[in-house]
Amino acid sequence: MGAAKDREVYRQRAVLERVFVHKPPNSAFSYNKRPMPASLRHLSPLDRILSVVDQGLRVSWASPRATAASGRPTPGAGGDLAPAPLDPATARHVAGLMRVNHAGEVAAQALYHGQALVARDPAVRNFLQAAALEEGDHLLWCAERLESLHSHTSRLNPLWYAGSVVIGAIAGLCGDAISLGFIAETERQVEGHLDAHLTRLPVADTISRAIIEQMKQDEVQHRQHALARGGAALPAPVRAVMRAVAKLMTSSAYWV
Ligand SMILES: [Fe+2]
Ligand SMILES: [Fe+2]
Repeated sequence: MGAAKDREVYRQRAVLERVFVHKPPNSAFSYNKRPMPASLRHLSPLDRILSVVDQGLRVSWASPRATAASGRPTPGAGGDLAPAPLDPATARHVAGLMRVNHAGEVAAQALYHGQALVARDPAVRNFLQAAALEEGDHLLWCAERLESLHSHTSRLNPLWYAGSVVIGAIAGLCGDAISLGFIAETERQVEGHLDAHLTRLPVADTISRAIIEQMKQDEVQHRQHALARGGAALPAPVRAVMRAVAKLMTSSAYWV
């Protein structure tokens, strides 16, 4: 258990160092110029709130490249995966699915930010911030795919971000065990959702599929780490409400 915990701490530090210390593998970005993360210096409660507001503004209205991410290259891009051209109707369908995924990542990152805002244990806060950076990768990859399909992200993203920060903060205020359990359940539902999208995406769209596959691997890790840190099981009614909210978001983001 101790070795597993050490490996997880090392992985989180590696994510943070990739972003804030070393040059990222994808030279198109310069995230190493971003300010030191909250976990590495003392921030007042007001600093933390302003940091979350800044993230919300970036996610909602700035270029996708203005949102903090770990800098991993986009899966499927630049390699041997050359997607077949999509006919207009199929491209619209793929864009709808990727817009849903992007909105889901907006909500996921906002949940982590809200939870980190009120997390009691600094180690839990570090875990939340490292996971939020990986959600930032997912945000960027989905946004890039939408750009390549000449489509757009959800117009409702500010709503998803603001609502999810509040929900994340409420979960965080319930204590770290509940907060981690909330993450585990969220990620479990996201995994199911990504599986469903893999069945709906055209086989020829190898880039979108590579993005979703990598996202799914990351979400599995987030869930496993949250459980390993002591995430508690949530009551069935809470899980049902979470599914209902996710359904509302996914069904609207496909179109708007
Ligand atoms: Fe994600
Ligand atoms: Fe995740």
